[in-house]
Amino acid sequence: MKTIAIISSVGGAGRTTLTAALAGLLGARKHAVLALECDPRNVLALYGGLREPAGAGLASYLLNPGSAPAEAALQSDDGTLWLPWGGARPQGGLSAAEQAMIAATLHRQPGWLRDLLAQVDLPGNGIALVDTATWPSVHAEQAIAAADLVVVVVPPTPLACATLLRLRAELAGRGKQSLYVANGISPAMALHTDIIALLRQLLGAELSTYRIHADSGVPEALARNQNFSLAAPHSQAAHDMQGLATWLSSWVKQASRRAAPAAGGAP
Ligand SMILES: Nc1ncnc2c1ncn2[C@@H]1O[C@H](COP(=O)(O)OP(=O)(O)OP(=O)(O)O)[C@@H](O)[C@H]1O
Ligand SMILES: [Mg+2]
Repeated sequence: MKTIAIISSVGGAGRTTLTAALAGLLGARKHAVLALECDPRNVLALYGGLREPAGAGLASYLLNPGSAPAEAALQSDDGTLWLPWGGARPQGGLSAAEQAMIAATLHRQPGWLRDLLAQVDLPGNGIALVDTATWPSVHAEQAIAAADLVVVVVPPTPLACATLLRLRAELAGRGKQSLYVANGISPAMALHTDIIALLRQLLGAELSTYRIHADSGVPEALARNQNFSLAAPHSQAAHDMQGLATWLSSWVKQASRRAAPAAGGAP
């Protein structure tokens, strides 16, 4: 199994959208997929088609380590497993004290998520996709520490560019293989094409050739509880997501093959 963290240095970049879309698209490519939310916003399950925020999830496991995290996992019709952050309650969400306790645990144990994922039993080409809170945060740090590959989602905004170099230095310092994906691109906007040119200059081959175009159908599908790639399969943005999923699928297969001899498997 390979773990792919989906992070960004600004909010609203499209991390959760891409996590949910890739979960379905990678499942369609015959990967067993676990989509996991390391983000107290607790919205991933909504992007996955649920109508209510999840009650159980990583947060409940962190507050009660005696429970089994697998019990909080949900399975969608296409076979994807979803492990949300959880914490929704009829009266609201987690208290400030509970959130502080969780953050302190994550800070104290930077390898907590990596250790948890090491216990997950997905087949060889299985993929854990981790949606995170905006970096820097203890939640993003957990996802980065657990990741075999970090996908950095970059919206075409000046703030995303301004914060990117610090994030890139951090990932390089930790020896993390990274793929930068521009999301929400409108080629008709000069600012967007300028930012893409700048990103290409800064990131070279680390910038994915699959940039995801802006499409008003993406938030509309979310509002309707629909899977965007299925609702608008012929749109440019769905085509872009398919391309990214194909790239990730072959990355996972190659990385699993490379790891097999070291793990004692067939060469
Ligand atoms: N390619 C796109 N075209 C149009 N809208 C998009 C695109 N990608 C994402 N969006 C919309 O942008 C908004 C933010 O997306 P999303 O919630 O996935 O970002 P995020 O990085 O997870 O944000 P947060 O910081 O809140 O966790 C959503 O309304 C989503 O529907
Ligand atoms: Mg999000």
